[in-house]
Amino acid sequence: MSRSTHNGVRRLSATRLAAALAFAVAIALVAAGCGDDSVEVTTTAAAGTPIAHGQQLAGESCSSCHGQNFEGVKSLGPALADSHFIQDHTDDEIIAFIKEGRSKDAPDNETGIAMPPYGGNPRLTDDDLADIVLFLRTMQ
Ligand code: HEC
Repeated sequence: MSRSTHNGVRRLSATRLAAALAFAVAIALVAAGCGDDSVEVTTTAAAGTPIAHGQQLAGESCSSCHGQNFEGVKSLGPALADSHFIQDHTDDEIIAFIKEGRSKDAPDNETGIAMPPYGGNPRLTDDDLADIVLFLRTMQ
């Protein structure tokens, strides 16, 4: 009896704590919005930066072959982190490469494995590819 009452009290206080936290967060958000505009702008930019967008797209379309952390996957795709290819080519050249891909028996194929055009995702736009390249540059 006293045990279940004790648990009940603990549950209640946990609920209260959650409510109090939610309230505090709400106040903080309002304060940030009203008090200091730069806080709000910074937060918005961080969530939607081109690099963050590129990271998301690369995770969806490229990491299946190039690795979760773009460290490369044996027999699937070379590393894109610490990559001479990325370091030695301009953004436009890298974008052109991604669009074209590389067939298995292309003379310049280095692995004997094919990379499909657009990494197999033809819905990627030029802007998407530019964001992906921006993201890849952060890992060199
Ligand atoms: C189906 C597997 C696959 C997918 C998906 C894929 N790639 Fe590749 N990628 C490869 C292979 C294999 C190579 C190496 C080709 C060769 O040997 O020349 C490669 C090579 C590359 C290279 C040149 C690297 C080097 O060292 O020569 C870049 C840059 C690249 N891929 C970017 C991407 C991007 C960006 C995406 C996503 C939009 C992507 N790839 C999706 C398989 C893939």
